[in-house]
Amino acid sequence: MAEKELKPAIGKVLFTEEQIRERAKEIGAQISKDFEGEKVVLLGTLKGSVPWMAEVMKWITTSVEIDFIGASSYGSSTISSGVAKFWLEPKENLYNKNVIVVEDIIDTGNTLSYVIKKLEERNPKVVKICTMLDKSARRVADIQGDYVGFPVEDLFVVGYGLDYDEKYRNLPYISFLDEQDVEAL
Ligand code: IMP
Ligand code: MG
Repeated sequence: MAEKELKPAIGKVLFTEEQIRERAKEIGAQISKDFEGEKVVLLGTLKGSVPWMAEVMKWITTSVEIDFIGASSYGSSTISSGVAKFWLEPKENLYNKNVIVVEDIIDTGNTLSYVIKKLEERNPKVVKICTMLDKSARRVADIQGDYVGFPVEDLFVVGYGLDYDEKYRNLPYISFLDEQDVEAL
């Protein structure tokens, strides 16, 4: 008799590429309005924010620079370690700048609260948060997005930059991992 094993499979589509692009356009317009006549630095958190940041930045009409940081609290599993660290520091000088941290998803908020604390040490003018998804049901840290793409249920989501063990970042939509029985060979 063949043994059964659990393997992750992709569930239904939660947000289509069209929906994500439309929302990014609205958020880009809102940022342009809020920072009219000023310069902003979009600080993308590698690697997951890359597709979302690319969508939002196109619609910002005020002067914009981009930079990236690497911070993580996740290993290769779906469980948060609760410990964050920078593996890539910002390259640009953030002193007196309007900094918008661009995230893929806020889950427990542990990673982002660490990031914000470290960025504040560089004395920016303001630090705002722009996130594609907000999984607020799992929030531990006292943190929230200023610009939020979509609220999302407590599911492990993948696609549009979001990964499971470095896979599925390339999906042109947002879905979730749905465990299903797979006949082992
Ligand atoms: P937090 O510190 O728990 O808020 O975790 C933030 C980071 O964990 C995000 O930037 C993602 O990289 C990752 N993460 C959290 N939830 C998910 C998910 O549902 N799918 C994929 N990555 C996630
Ligand atoms: Mg991330």
